[in-house]
This record gives sequence, structure tokens and C-alpha cells, in this order.
Amino acid sequence: MKILLFAGSLRKDSLNKKLVRVANVLVKSNKDVETTLVDLQELQFPVYDGDIEAKGIPESVQKLSKLVGEADAIIISSPEYNASISSPLKNTIDWLSRVKPLDLAKKQILLLGASPGELGSMRALIHTKPSFETLGNFVYPSVFALPKADKAFDEEGKLVDPKREERLQKLVNEFIVYAQKKE
Ligand code: FNR
Repeated sequence: MKILLFAGSLRKDSLNKKLVRVANVLVKSNKDVETTLVDLQELQFPVYDGDIEAKGIPESVQKLSKLVGEADAIIISSPEYNASISSPLKNTIDWLSRVKPLDLAKKQILLLGASPGELGSMRALIHTKPSFETLGNFVYPSVFALPKADKAFDEEGKLVDPKREERLQKLVNEFIVYAQKKE
């Protein structure tokens, strides 16, 4: 099966990019799983604007939509902005929702989040679910929210606490089994 992973943050030193890179390694420990890790900063989506859309869906959006279409499942790690979904992630969903036929449909989705705060992006994850579901995707019921994420990674980008890594490994393994059954 093919899993696409990306972070809902653009900046280079993003904690969520670190988390999604850790998830990518853990996912790849499962055989028969191929992954593609995408950096939204490289894609440079414009802010959604109907006038831009009227001239044609941007190439970068079409590129990501194609990767989404080829994937069986998607893993996203996203920050929380003002107690809700991050603007880069919402913009990405909004652009992908304009591609017809819709590639972002019937995908199994696992949500992760990292924040320096106490809630580990949990409120963002709760708000993200309906946007994917309204497009006909299946969001896995369990999520991984990483609080105090600014202290959670070592210099190599690994999770410092082995229990957290074990918990994330268990979650991605369960998600893969679930997503394979739905294929
Ligand atoms: C934040 N941050 C934040 N954190 C949080 O736990 N709850 C929140 O509501 C917010 N709100 C918020 C709004 C905006 C506009 C920004 C830029 C930031 C802090 C945020 O969690 C922190 O900057 C993370 O490091 C962002 O994620 P990345 O970029 O490190 O992945």
C-alpha cells in the first residue's frame, strides 16, 4: 500500500515536520508499505482565490492532488493555530477539494499534531476531521497529539522519550492494518 505524509506547517524548523519524519520512519518498518513525504513549503500554494482558480488549478495543486490520488492512505501532522486548524493545512484541503474528479476522497487518514503547548495540537485535530470527512474520507478515530513538542526531539530529530515513540509506532501499525482492510 502507498502512504502519503506531510505536515500542515510550512516553516523549515517545524515541529510537525519533525514528527511526520519520525512517523515516516515508523511506517516504513512495515513491509509492503511505500511512502511519499511531501513538504508543503516546496509546493508554494497560493492562498485559495476563486479568481486564480478561474484561470486554472495551479500546477502545484495538481501535483499534490495526483500524489493524493495515487495514495491509499495519508498521514498528516499539523500544528494548532488559534485553537483550530492551521492555515496551510486548511488552504491545502480547500485547493485539493477544487480538483475534479476529486482525488482527495475515500482515503484513510491518520492525524498527528505537535505543539509546544500542553494540548499538543489536539483542538486543531478535532477541527480537521470534519473537513476531510465532508469530502468523503475516513479519518482514523485515534490521533497522536504531542505536547511540549519543542522539548520532545533530540538533535537528530528522534523522539527523546522512547515511550512516546512506542505509542506512535503502535498507532501507525494499527492504522496500517485498518487501512489495508478498507483497501
Ligand atoms: C500558534 N501556536 C499555537 N499553539 C497551540 O498549542 N495552540 C494555539 O492555539 C496556537 N496558536 C498559534 C497561532 C499561530 C498563528 C501560530 C503561528 C502559532 C504555536 C504553535 O503551536 C507553534 O508555533 C508550533 O511550533 C507551530 O508548529 P510548527 O510550525 O512548529 O510545526
